Amino acid sequence: MGIRITPSILNADLADLAAEVARIPSADLVHLDVMDNSFVPNLTFGLPVVESLRRHTSMPMDLHLMIADADRWAPSYAEAGCESVTFHIEASDEPVKLARTLRSLGARAAMALKPATPIDPYADLLPELDMVLIMTVEPGFGGQAFMDDMMPKVARTRELVRALGKEVWVQVDGGVSEATIERCVEAGADTFVAGSAVYRADQPDAVVQALRERAVVHAH
Ligand code: DX5
Ligand code: ZN
Repeated sequence: MGIRITPSILNADLADLAAEVARIPSADLVHLDVMDNSFVPNLTFGLPVVESLRRHTSMPMDLHLMIADADRWAPSYAEAGCESVTFHIEASDEPVKLARTLRSLGARAAMALKPATPIDPYADLLPELDMVLIMTVEPGFGGQAFMDDMMPKVARTRELVRALGKEVWVQVDGGVSEATIERCVEAGADTFVAGSAVYRADQPDAVVQALRERAVVHAH
């Protein structure tokens, strides 16, 4: 099982994004949180900022859309050069069509689940997806406490992915740190968003490396 660390810039200096991404060279992808103050009670940035960032970094971009009308907007982020585009299943009316569109545009297609949303009703979608994102906080803000009770959902998702026999990454997002990453790996996650744990540190890249080392040791 490969391990990927995908730091979130939500708690970085958003006025100096290109420089902030340059501070995490050991990351696999940079995680970008797009919020619309409708699907979540917070507002961040959108397509123009992502398009601009694309011109300043070669790091692959992991786009996490927390917006109400995912079907309408997600494809534009694939066109903007995001390697992975994640939509919330709660915000998509036509997830199969959307996932196929994202893949046809050359992006990895991913589905996110809020804490209250179970995986089983969406198991049929897995063949259409490259990643499932299990939220380990309520989406909207960085720096919240990790929700341990999401680990059974991570384990269940891993079980469904194994049964499918295809490589679908299982990502966790929210409260992931050196203190919590082992539990996530043990439950079956292989892709890790860490926002405040990385960007509130003096040396963000050292944290990225430490997270990876911890995850690799516990990977199975
Ligand atoms: C929250 C975002 C996260 C956030 C995580 O809604 O999706 O990506 O940046 O931040 P931490 O790691 O601080 O919980
Ligand atoms: Zn996120």
